[in-house]
Amino acid sequence: MRRKVRLRPAAWLAAALLAAGMWAAAGCAQKGVPPKTQPAPQPAPGPAPLSAAAREGGKLYLAYACVYCHGVGGTGGVPNPFNEGGDATVPPLVGAGFQRDYGTDQAVAAILKSGSILNSGKATSMPSWNGILNDQQTANLTAYIRAGLPDTGEAPPATRSGTDVYDAYACGKCHGPIGRGGVANVAATDAGDKEIPALGTPAFHREFDTDAKIRGFIINGSVIEQGKASVVFMPRWGDVIKAAQAELVTGWLRTYK
Ligand code: HEC
Ligand code: HEC
Repeated sequence: MRRKVRLRPAAWLAAALLAAGMWAAAGCAQKGVPPKTQPAPQPAPGPAPLSAAAREGGKLYLAYACVYCHGVGGTGGVPNPFNEGGDATVPPLVGAGFQRDYGTDQAVAAILKSGSILNSGKATSMPSWNGILNDQQTANLTAYIRAGLPDTGEAPPATRSGTDVYDAYACGKCHGPIGRGGVANVAATDAGDKEIPALGTPAFHREFDTDAKIRGFIINGSVIEQGKASVVFMPRWGDVIKAAQAELVTGWLRTYK
């Protein structure tokens, strides 16, 4: 049997007030006061929108050729066959191992500045960007890495000509506009190395008078002031740049005056 609930006076009063309130609310709605708004339709759950810093970092990730070594989305995996006894591929910038070793922004800033010379420069090394990336750019790149290197809708630039390759592989970030001289090598101690060499100058053409000499330098790289961190060195592009792209930039550098 259903138990009858007898309202005690106070409860009865409360119920009456509640009913009156509801009636008033309904009346108000009729008088044009907007009813409580419906919850807006929720967007499908997805990645959080990128901060301005991370978006900027995404552009730098392409412009400074990070993408050619660390891969789209920072998944790493570019073969590094000459790194004997070390990682067989360029490391990822995502995942638990990376978070453990590079969990602080200072750690990321430090390797961007110092670079990391593997096997005395015989393997593909992490370039030093000391004096090339400024603090703001370093912070933006770090923000992009922390955001998980998401797709920003921008693709690495096309590499159909020698100048395209020069831009895509960040050659100009170190060597400056072709023929105009390089960027300062701020940590270099040897007087002759204080500027990253200009390409396409008369002196360049005297020294690099065959395609083989130019190609060899691009493929093998060169470590100046061996072992001194933060001195900018010529990255080894051999396992990173495609042969056809190396040919394009070599041919162009050889004839550029
Ligand atoms: C020529 C190839 C190359 C390019 C270009 C390059 N890197 Fe690297 N990077 C490496 C290699 C190889 C290592 C591993 C160094 C080591 O093991 O000591 C590395 C290491 C790192 C690390 C530390 C991660 C780890 O597990 O060792 C970070 C962070 C990083 N790179 C960020 C960048 C960013 C950002 C750019 C672009 C501004 C960039 N790299 C450009 C090859 C490259
Ligand atoms: C991170 C900075 C950096 C980047 C990026 C870079 N280089 Fe270099 N490059 C150097 C440094 C430093 C030297 C000087 C090495 C030496 O004297 O042993 C050099 C030397 C050279 C030389 C020999 C010139 C000379 O007078 O010694 C050539 C050729 C060259 N780079 C081509 C390129 C090309 C092509 C690219 C792009 C695919 C490129 N570099 C990207 C730093 C860089």
